[in-house]
Amino acid sequence: MTAPAKRMTVPEFRARKGNGPPLVVLTAYDLPSAQAAEEGGVDALLVGDSVGNVLLGHTSTLTVTLDDVIHHARAVGLARKSALFVVDMPWMTYHLGPQDALRNAARVVRETGADAVKLEGGVKRVGAIRALLDAEIPVMGHVGLTPQSVLRMGGYRVQGRDAQAAQAIRDDARAIVEAGVFAMVLEGVPADLAAEITREVDLPTIGIGAGSACDGQVLVFHDLLGMTTAPTPRFVRRYAEVYASQVEAIRRFCSDVRERTFPSDRETYR
Ligand code: KIV
Repeated sequence: MTAPAKRMTVPEFRARKGNGPPLVVLTAYDLPSAQAAEEGGVDALLVGDSVGNVLLGHTSTLTVTLDDVIHHARAVGLARKSALFVVDMPWMTYHLGPQDALRNAARVVRETGADAVKLEGGVKRVGAIRALLDAEIPVMGHVGLTPQSVLRMGGYRVQGRDAQAAQAIRDDARAIVEAGVFAMVLEGVPADLAAEITREVDLPTIGIGAGSACDGQVLVFHDLLGMTTAPTPRFVRRYAEVYASQVEAIRRFCSDVRERTFPSDRETYR
């Protein structure tokens, strides 16, 4: 019998601030993506509400429901071995008050086995974060370009470019640190601002479109592997072209069936 893999815990993740190599976080939405991410050696799996855009054809994350996220996170929970397992709280599952946020986060933890939830926002989300922590649910924060604020932001634009906007992001970061998050995603902010926040806070910052000074980096699984046809933002590095190789394989399958070279004798029962 093989010993079960040692799992990354929330305190261990947090303790990586200033210790060891940068943290690697990758989104996962189902069993195969979670298995590949685990085998590839990530530190944390994130079931992002980006599941809506990436897998379900939504045009924003605003139409993703708690049930959508739980459905996908259950599969990820079955595949996770040693990585920390974090699940996004969708829009309007933590905005109606602390009790509602707690009820929804408890569903996530109970139904998926998540180690922690992630929620977007700063000063305005302190009440929700505190309620979850009071019930022993660890919270990862997310400030800067928060995709659930797309209507207010008027699109997916880098945030914090002028002095006032940068100050608002600093205030948000401080507020969620004081509220007790164990780590925070810094998304779509100038590298200098991300570096300054990273220096200031005593917990890991995980960047996406936030430069190289963060304590870790996160990417979307399908972006990293080149599984999408949509243009990717400049912060994405594509490590493979899986979409193109899928299409090529399917073309060969179509052609083999049409030419009756599939199935062969070896692929046939007698
Ligand atoms: O939803 C998501 O995938 C995310 C990450 C990109 C940080 O929030």
